[in-house]
Amino acid sequence: MMRPATMIRSACLRNFSQSLRVGSAFLKSGDFCRYTSQAAASLQQVCEPSAYSDDESADHMDWDNLGFGLTPADYMYTMKCSNDYFEKGRLSRYGKIELSPSSGVLNYGQGLFEGMKAYRKEDGQLILFRPDQNATRLQTGAERMCMPSPSIDQFIDAVKQTALANKRWVPPPGKGSLYIRPLLVGSGPILGLAPAPEYTFLVFASPVGNYFKEGLAPLNLYVEDEFHRATPGGAGGVKAISNYAPVLKAISRAKNRGFSDVLYLDSVNKKNLEEVSSCNIFILKGNIISTPATSGTILAGITRKSIIEIASDYGFQVEERTIPVDELLEADEVFCTGTAVVVAPVGSITYRGKRIEFKTGAQSVCRELYSTLVGIQTGLIKDNKGWTFEIN
Ligand SMILES: Cc1ncc(COP(=O)(O)O)c(C=O)c1O
Repeated sequence: MMRPATMIRSACLRNFSQSLRVGSAFLKSGDFCRYTSQAAASLQQVCEPSAYSDDESADHMDWDNLGFGLTPADYMYTMKCSNDYFEKGRLSRYGKIELSPSSGVLNYGQGLFEGMKAYRKEDGQLILFRPDQNATRLQTGAERMCMPSPSIDQFIDAVKQTALANKRWVPPPGKGSLYIRPLLVGSGPILGLAPAPEYTFLVFASPVGNYFKEGLAPLNLYVEDEFHRATPGGAGGVKAISNYAPVLKAISRAKNRGFSDVLYLDSVNKKNLEEVSSCNIFILKGNIISTPATSGTILAGITRKSIIEIASDYGFQVEERTIPVDELLEADEVFCTGTAVVVAPVGSITYRGKRIEFKTGAQSVCRELYSTLVGIQTGLIKDNKGWTFEIN
């Protein structure tokens, strides 16, 4: 197997020769010299042997006790955009980035992120799950936030390069995954509320295990009726960075009271289920599985979409609709879905002091859906849907 440093060096050389091709195709000869010397300088910066003293910490990871936290993997990917044109991206060592104090993202929160995972198969190959969906969602979000966005191909290529460059940080099969975090931010300086003049698309990664400290144990959710996550006409339906800081207070209050996370209600009627802080919610009653319809205030999760399809294949009647909080009283099971949480069982929900409990465990529908989804994501179950991308 090629060592990571060797792999990156050859990837860099590939990028470099591609850069030269782009350069010769589009630039005048003077520009070309400038371009090539810049490209050579950046190649040196990325591939300089001294920058390559491989950090051995991935080799000493305690893969059995991996939680969900930041353990930055070696390389990140950066691609800049000005005048709606994304220039060729490049890999570099994970590290600090330079940002103007007057950048759009720092001042006005003009930014989006995505979250996805790469799994390692038994044969050593890496698998990505539906990266095209994350690419499309970023484009939808970018349109809402007045930002240019990378093409689907540019997005997938960046994610692939980041995953492969950090291959040694992908946990062994069954121990976790490499969480990949694409970011699109207004990095150009701006004073006066307007879209930024420049954008940066960035991808970094970190190995992760279970999202909740409960592991696969059932979650205990708290229904929040004071704080809301999103309002109609706002940006709750896209993965804007500005949707997340406002829920920190509700989360910390719930956690201080011993709950795992918060279940939000709609901000107009204050009675219909929306979603949890970073995942979607489903309820099961008999043969019917229901989830709140996404109409602008709820993030359309890629796991949600996948579970709707898997559950329908199993013969469940799946409904996307308005779900009044009172329906929890009758639910057999409740579960959450998301890239980070996968499919997590909910053991109880507390609303206005009343605790409602749900079925969980080995015989639950939630467990069955979880096993099927994870089986597909990790390559243990044959993917008949074209959801997984093997990369090497
Ligand atoms: C608010 C919110 N809802 C739902 C989800 C689940 O989305 P996905 O399944 O695409 O990870 C996420 C995570 O990305 C989220 O942040």
